[in-house]
Amino acid sequence: MKFPIIAVLLLTLSTALLKAELDAKYYEKTCPQIEDIISETVQSASKQDPKVPARILRMFFHDCFIRGCDASILLDSTHTNKAEKDGPPNLSVHSFYVIDDAKAKLEKACPHIVSCADIIAIAARDVVTLSGGSSWEVLKGRKDGRISKASDTINLPAPTLNVTQLIQSFAKRGLSIKDLVTLSGGHTLGFSHCSSFQSRIHNFSFLHDIDPTLNIKFALELKNKCPNPNTTNPNAGEFLDSTASVFDNDYYTQILGGKGLFSSDQSLASDSRTRWIVEAFAKDPSVFFKEFADSMLKLGNVGVLENGEVRLNCKIVNS
Ligand code: HEM
Ligand SMILES: *[C@@H]1O[C@H](CO)[C@@H](O)[C@H](O)[C@H]1NC(C)=O
Ligand SMILES: *[C@@H]1O[C@H](CO)[C@@H](O)[C@H](O)[C@H]1NC(C)=O
Ligand SMILES: *[C@@H]1O[C@H](CO)[C@@H](O)[C@H](O)[C@H]1NC(C)=O
Ligand SMILES: *[C@@H]1O[C@H](CO)[C@@H](O)[C@H](O)[C@H]1NC(C)=O
Repeated sequence: MKFPIIAVLLLTLSTALLKAELDAKYYEKTCPQIEDIISETVQSASKQDPKVPARILRMFFHDCFIRGCDASILLDSTHTNKAEKDGPPNLSVHSFYVIDDAKAKLEKACPHIVSCADIIAIAARDVVTLSGGSSWEVLKGRKDGRISKASDTINLPAPTLNVTQLIQSFAKRGLSIKDLVTLSGGHTLGFSHCSSFQSRIHNFSFLHDIDPTLNIKFALELKNKCPNPNTTNPNAGEFLDSTASVFDNDYYTQILGGKGLFSSDQSLASDSRTRWIVEAFAKDPSVFFKEFADSMLKLGNVGVLENGEVRLNCKIVNS
C-alpha cells in the first residue's frame, strides 16, 4: 500500500520540477531582447520568402516529435553521423537559415544564453501570429540536445495514417485527441509535394482509382497537378489549404468537404472521436485559435531535456 503513495508523490514532484523548468520570464534578466530579435528576424525573412512561415511551423512540430523539443532537427550531419535533417523519409523541412540567423544575432546580444530549441518555439509562435493567427506567451528554458539521427525520422506520423494510428502517435508524446485535431490545423499553412498524396489519386485500390473519401472535383484538380504516379517534377504539388499563406480555420471547412490533402487530414473528419472537434473549429475560428495556442504550449513541453546544453551554433554540438 505504501508504494503507490510514494509513486504518486514522486510523480507529482517530477511534474512540478518539469513545470518549473519552462518559464515565460526565463530570459527576463539574462536576455530581455530575445523576443524582439527573433520576431524581427522571422518577419524580414518571411517578407523575403513567403514560404518561411509554413516551414518554421513544421520545423517546430518535427523537432518536438523526435527526441523532444531539443533542436535536434537543426544539427548538421557529420562524417560519422547522418542527422535528422538528412533523414529518410525526406524531411523536406527548409529555412533553417532563419533560426541560424536569429541565433547569430542573439549570440551577439547575449552570448551563450539562449537555446536553439527556444528559438524554434518562439519563431513558431511568431509565424502563426504573422500569418493572421493568434499570439500566446511562449514558455522558455529548453536545452539543446547532442543527438540527431536520420533513422529517428521514421517515428514521424505518415500522411497515410488513419485516425487510430494518429491518436497513438500523439499519445506517445502525451498529446490528446484534441491536440491532434488542433495541431493538424497547422496544415492551414504551406505546401505538399505530389509524393505525399499521390497514392490517393492514382490506383488507390483494387476497386477505386481515386480515394472515395476525396471530393471528386478536388481529386481531379490534384490529378491535373500530379498527372503521373511516378511524377518526375520534384516541385509539383498542391497547397495544404486554399488560403495557404493565411492562418485561418479553412483547413477544417475543407476536410468537412472531402478536400483534405492527406488521408491523415481526411480521417479526422470521418471518425466520431475527432469529427465533433473539426466541426467546432470549422464553425468558429476563435475557438480554433484559442485551442491552437493551448496545444502549441503542450507541444512545446514534449520531451524537454533536463540535462542539455545551450549550443553556440545551432548546427553543431558544443565541443
Ligand atoms: C498529424 C500528423 C501530421 C502528418 C501526417 C503530417 C504530414 C505532412 C506532410 C506529408 C506534409 C507535406 C510534406 C511535403 O510533401 O513537402 C506536411 C506539411 C506541413 N505540415 Fe504536417 N503533418 C502532420 C502534423 C503537422 C503539425 C502538428 C504541424 C504543425 C503544427 C504541421 C505543419 C505542417 C506545415 C506548416 C506543412 C507545410 C510545410 C511547407 O509548406 O513547407 N503538420 N505535413
Ligand atoms: C531525398 O530524395 C532525393 C530524391 O528522391 C534522393 O536522391 C535523396 O537520396 C533523398 N535523401 C534522403 C536522405 O533520403
Ligand atoms: C487503422 O490502421 C490499423 C493498422 O493498419 C488497423 O488495424 C485499423 O483497423 C485501422 N482502422 C481504423 C478505423 O482505425
Ligand atoms: C495498380 O495496382 C495493382 C495492385 O493493386 C497493380 O497490379 C497494377 O499494376 C497497378 N496499375 C498501375 C497502372 O500501376
Ligand atoms: C510507375 O512505376 C512503377 C514501378 O516503379 C511501374 O510499374 C509503373 O508502370 C509506372 N507507372 C507509370 C504511369 O509510369
